[in-house]
Amino acid sequence: MSIKEAVTEAQTATATATTRYVGQSVARLDGPAKTTGQARFAAEHSYPDLAYAALVYSTIARGRIIAIDTTEARGVQGVVTVLTHQNAPAMSPPGKMSLLRPSSMAVSASVNYLATDEVHWNGQPVAVVVAETPETARYAASLVRPAYEQFPAVVDFAAAIPDAVPDKGIPLLAGPADKGNAVAALAAAPVSVDLEFSTPQHNHNAIEPHATTAVWNGDQLTVHEGSQHISGLRAHLAKRFGVPEEAIRVLSPFVGGGFGAKTRPWAGTLLAVLAARVTGRPIRLALSREGVYHTVGGRTASTQRVALGASRDGRLTAIVHSSVSRTGRVGGMAEPITEVTQHLYAAPNIQLSQRVVQLDLLSNTFMRAPGEAIGSFGVESAMDELAWKLGRDPIELRMINEPDRDPVGGQPFTHRMLREAFTLGAERFGWQDRDPRAASMRDGRWLVGMGVATAYRGSMAMPAAVTVRLQADGTVVVLCGLHEMGMGAPTVQAQVAADQMGVRLEAVRIEYGDSELPRSAGAFGSAQTASVTASLLAACTKLKKSVLTLARRLPDSPLKGVKLGEVDARDGGLYHQGGGLRYTDILAAAGRDQVEAAHKTNMPAFVAKTVRDLRFRSRSASGAHFCEVRVDADTGEIRVSRWLGVFDVGTVLNARTASSQLRGGIIWGIGMALEEQTLIDPRTGRIVNPSLSEYHIPVHADIPHIDVHYLNEADPTMPLGLLGLGEIGITGAAAAVANAIRHATGKRVLDLPITLDKVL
Ligand code: MOS
Repeated sequence: MSIKEAVTEAQTATATATTRYVGQSVARLDGPAKTTGQARFAAEHSYPDLAYAALVYSTIARGRIIAIDTTEARGVQGVVTVLTHQNAPAMSPPGKMSLLRPSSMAVSASVNYLATDEVHWNGQPVAVVVAETPETARYAASLVRPAYEQFPAVVDFAAAIPDAVPDKGIPLLAGPADKGNAVAALAAAPVSVDLEFSTPQHNHNAIEPHATTAVWNGDQLTVHEGSQHISGLRAHLAKRFGVPEEAIRVLSPFVGGGFGAKTRPWAGTLLAVLAARVTGRPIRLALSREGVYHTVGGRTASTQRVALGASRDGRLTAIVHSSVSRTGRVGGMAEPITEVTQHLYAAPNIQLSQRVVQLDLLSNTFMRAPGEAIGSFGVESAMDELAWKLGRDPIELRMINEPDRDPVGGQPFTHRMLREAFTLGAERFGWQDRDPRAASMRDGRWLVGMGVATAYRGSMAMPAAVTVRLQADGTVVVLCGLHEMGMGAPTVQAQVAADQMGVRLEAVRIEYGDSELPRSAGAFGSAQTASVTASLLAACTKLKKSVLTLARRLPDSPLKGVKLGEVDARDGGLYHQGGGLRYTDILAAAGRDQVEAAHKTNMPAFVAKTVRDLRFRSRSASGAHFCEVRVDADTGEIRVSRWLGVFDVGTVLNARTASSQLRGGIIWGIGMALEEQTLIDPRTGRIVNPSLSEYHIPVHADIPHIDVHYLNEADPTMPLGLLGLGEIGITGAAAAVANAIRHATGKRVLDLPITLDKVL
C-alpha cells in the first residue's frame, strides 16, 4: 500500500474513536488460563528426573541438636538423600537486613539453615529428605529422629511484655512521634478514654502454599516460585549460593496469593535449591499448610494502649498511642503499629511510641498493611468509644477532628477526601436510620448494630524498568518483570499501554513474572502498579517519539514536521489535524519489524523526589468503612450483615480488579475481627492450629455483599494520579466490626478475635 492509500484508510478509521481503557472494568487477562487449569504454578512444573523434598521440623523452641538419626529414613525405598547439618554443604550467610540491599531481604535473617546445630524456634527445619515421590519424602521425613539439648526459651508474648524495649520502627514508616505534651493534656482533659487492646498472631493463608521447583544446570539455576519480588529473590539466592545474579532465572508468572509472605525467600526456597545442588536433580518442594506456618513468619501479636483526651465539644486535646509487638530472636521487624495514628486526627498533643520484645519464635514478617492493620483497630475503636462517652455521632466526631494538615508533621496532604468519603458512605449506607442508643435496634432474636471506621494507608512508588515494543503487525508488547498475585497487575498495565499507544486492548501483550525481563518494583507496599505505570508512561512516550521520527521521514508523510505534542495516538496509529498513519503502515514503509523503547527510573531523581515527598507532603489513600452486624441476643453469635466502603485511592484504573482487592482486604479485616488467631503453646512455642480446619478464616457464608464506591479523583503527585490500593482495605475494617458490635450490644471488646463468649 502506498502512503497515500494508507492516509486515506487512516482517515476513515478516525471516524470510529478508539476506546479508552483506563477506568473500564476489564476482566483479568490471565483469568481464562486460571479457570481452565492451564496456568501452571510453581509446584506444577515437571522436569525429567524430578525429585521431591520434604522438611523435618524441630520440636523444641531453642537448643542444640546433639544427635540426628537418619538411618531409618535412609532405609526407605525411594529415598535419595537426607540432608542435615552434619552433611549439607554450607550456604553463604545472609547479610543483615536492609531495605536498600535486596540480597539481604530475608527474614529470620541470621538463620543459616542446615549449617549449624542451633535451633531457634519450634518448627525450624532441621533436615531435608529427598525422594522419588512426595509421599515417600514426607513419610521418610517422619522417620528422622533428632535429639536435642534444650535451652530456656521465651515464647509467651503476654509474659514477655514487661521486657519490651523501645523501637523506632522500620525506615520510612517511623510510627513514633512526640508533639506537645500529651500526657499532661490527657490528665487535664474534661473527657477521656484510656483503653488497652490486644491482638493475636496471624498467619498468611494464601490459596497457593509456598512451593519451589529448583533446577541447576551446571552453575545456572532456574527457580519456579510464586514471588512478590523476583529480583529480590534472585539477588538473595545469588548471595547464598555464591553465583552471579545473571546465572539465576526466577520464573513466577502465577502467584496464588502472597499478602507479604512471598516478598522474601524463606527456608523452603533455600533448601529446595540446596537439595537440587547436592543431588544434581531438579527438586520440587511444596510445603504443606503446616509447613508454611512453621517456616513463613506471620503478623506479630500486639498490645496497644490508646488514650484520647477531648474537650466537651469533641475536640481532641491529646492522643496517646503506644504498642508492643514482637520479633523473633533471629529476625523480623518491629511493626509500625502507631504509624496510622500519625495522620488521622488533629490534636495539639500527640505521643506515639512503639516497643518490641524478641521471642524464640519464627520471626514475624510483612502481612497486608503491617502494623497499620492492627494499629487502626486500636485507634479507630478508641475514637468510637470516645464518641459514646461524649454522646456524639462517631462520624461527626471524626469530622470535628479532621485535620487540614498532617497532624504530626504539619505537611500538606496531597489528597484528603475523608469528609467526602464519610458523607457519601453515610448516605448510601443509610446511616441516618441508626438509632444512636446502644442495644436499641432489634430484628427478632438479632441485636442489630452499625459501626464506622476510617481506612488509611500511605502511598508510594518504587523504581521500575519497562520496555515497550511495537511490532510490525501493530501489536504492542510490554516487557516488565512484574508480579501477578491475582490482583490484576498485568491487566491494568495493558489498559494503560493500550490508551498510551492508542491501540485496542487485544493488541497489547504483557510479558511478566520472569527475572530476565526488565526489573519491576516488587508487589508490596501497595506500590507496584503506580511504580510500573510511571515507567510505562515514559517508555510509551519514547516509543511514540521513535515511531513519529520514522513516520516523518517517509515520502509524502502527513506527519512531516509534526511534533510529538501535536499528535494523538489512537486507532492504532499517530494522528494530528492534517491526518495520520497507522503503526502497521509506518513500520512497513520504514522496513522495520519492530520499534522498541525502554525506560528505567532515574535513581537520583527518584531519590530526590522521595525525600522531598517524605519531608514536605503527606500522601495516602483513605476511606470510610460502614459495617452492620447482627448479634444473637441469646448465643452471642455474630454475623456481619452489610458492608459498604467508600475509598479515595486516586484514579481507579479498573473498578473490577480494584473492588476485588478492596473486598479482599475487608474480608480479611472481618476475619481479623471475628476469627483469626494463631495459637501458640506457651510451654513449647509450638503453633497448635497450623491448618485451615483450626485457624479460622471467613468463608462465603460469613461474608455479605460488600459494596465498594470510589471517589476516583487523581492524586496530583502520583503517576496517572494513582494511590496504591493493595493494603488499605484491611485498615480500619476490624474496628468497624468492633464498633458495630458495641452499638448492637453495648459491649466494647478490646481483644481480638471477638468470639461469642466475649459479647455475652
Ligand atoms: Mo505487603 S504486606 O507490602 O505484601
